Amino acid sequence: MAGVDQMKKIEAIIKPFKLDEVKEALHEVGLQGITVVEAKGFGRQKGHTELYRGAEYVVDFLPKVKIEVVCEDAVVERAVEAITNAARTGRIGDGKIFISTVEEAIRIRTGEKGDAAI
Ligand SMILES: Nc1ncnc2c1ncn2[C@@H]1O[C@H](COP(=O)(O)OP(=O)(O)OP(=O)(O)O)[C@@H](O)[C@H]1O
Ligand SMILES: [Mg+2]
Repeated sequence: MAGVDQMKKIEAIIKPFKLDEVKEALHEVGLQGITVVEAKGFGRQKGHTELYRGAEYVVDFLPKVKIEVVCEDAVVERAVEAITNAARTGRIGDGKIFISTVEEAIRIRTGEKGDAAI
């Protein structure tokens, strides 16, 4: 039933070459659905000193991948740990994870709602 278990959205902005590793790590946590969006962005260094494929970028925006996962509250901690471990290189630009509350989810084919839909 909607509203009983809170649903959370995890948005993780990561380095593109880490996508496969992060996907595998999330699969191991048992998550069923994932959205991937090609993105551009910069963090504190404004893209200037970060290396991408061995060359220093002179532009502000660097290619990133944004992963969106909606999951039950109870899984968030494990999912975040999986993403963090898989995406970290220890260098600048490793990315960020944002977590927010999701009001509702609807599975279009069946009409299921709430955490039954995710
Ligand atoms: N406050 C923010 N809001 C939205 N997106 C952000 C924010 N901070 C970072 N991002 C996104 O995350 C990407 C990676 O950020 P990044 O890891 O460089 O953050 P940082 O704070 O500079 O940390 P680091 O010093 O480790 O590089 C950015 O390219 C941008 O797309
Ligand atoms: Mg940075």
